[in-house]
Amino acid sequence: MQSFPKHFHALVIGANGGIGTAFLQILKEDPQCACAIGLHRASQPAINFEDEASIAAAAEELRTFAPFHLIINAAGILHTDEWMPEKKLADLHFAQLQKTFQINTFGPALVLRHFTPLLDKDRSVLAMLSAKVGSIGDNRLGGWYSYRASKAALNMLVKTASIELKRSHPNAVCVAVHPNTVNTSLSQPFRGEQIGRPALSAAQDMLTMLDSLTVRDSGEFYAYNGEHLPW
Ligand SMILES: NC(=O)c1ccc[n+]([C@@H]2O[C@H](COP(=O)([O-])OP(=O)(O)OC[C@H]3O[C@@H](n4cnc5c(N)ncnc54)[C@H](OP(=O)(O)O)[C@@H]3O)[C@@H](O)[C@H]2O)c1
Repeated sequence: MQSFPKHFHALVIGANGGIGTAFLQILKEDPQCACAIGLHRASQPAINFEDEASIAAAAEELRTFAPFHLIINAAGILHTDEWMPEKKLADLHFAQLQKTFQINTFGPALVLRHFTPLLDKDRSVLAMLSAKVGSIGDNRLGGWYSYRASKAALNMLVKTASIELKRSHPNAVCVAVHPNTVNTSLSQPFRGEQIGRPALSAAQDMLTMLDSLTVRDSGEFYAYNGEHLPW
């Protein structure tokens, strides 16, 4: 991570997921990274996007490790044991909409609230893992109502936070990132094993891309390879 200072501090949320684990492994192996912390529902402190207080408490506990130069949120859901992404309007129900928004949108919103004050004022990047299917402009296939809408709303939160951050942290970069299809439990029901990339190579590409971003790129939506995606 050439753009970060020597001994930079990094934080990965959702650090036990397929992509989150890969991010944390690479950061822990980076000799320049002095502190790589992973948070998830079973970490100490724990962070659970269905428990608002846990988000504030985790940020408070991590204050001693601040400032952070890199914060990545790699938590998210697409399906559960109870339901799969909707194929048609007739599949929509509150339980799926609510849970998907809780984890993909509301939790990350509170991460923006509580963790942006921990960003380094001189050089920092905050990346929210979004998804290209959350792009309204790129939606040609339809379906996946809850997931698409939760990521589109997440993208709006990223854009809005980036505008506020320009005032409070003028050197911070806040972006939404599409990792591509990656072989994890999230993509597994959709032939992720066959068509998805290994998480380590996806995470490495995203870190290289994040390393190259400057404040001019803040508030935008990027794919793992630096491609600029439409909202
Ligand atoms: N894989 C892909 O092809 C792909 C494509 C586009 C976008 N993405 C996005 O990339 C991100 C990472 O996905 P992945 O493929 O690594 O998925 P994954 O392997 O299923 O990991 C999901 C992560 O989300 C966490 N999570 C679930 N519910 C949570 C909650 N209530 N509170 C806090 N954390 C919670 C999981 O923690 P637990 O282990 O505790 O459940 C896990 O750490 C997601 O935002 C996803 O939408 C992935």
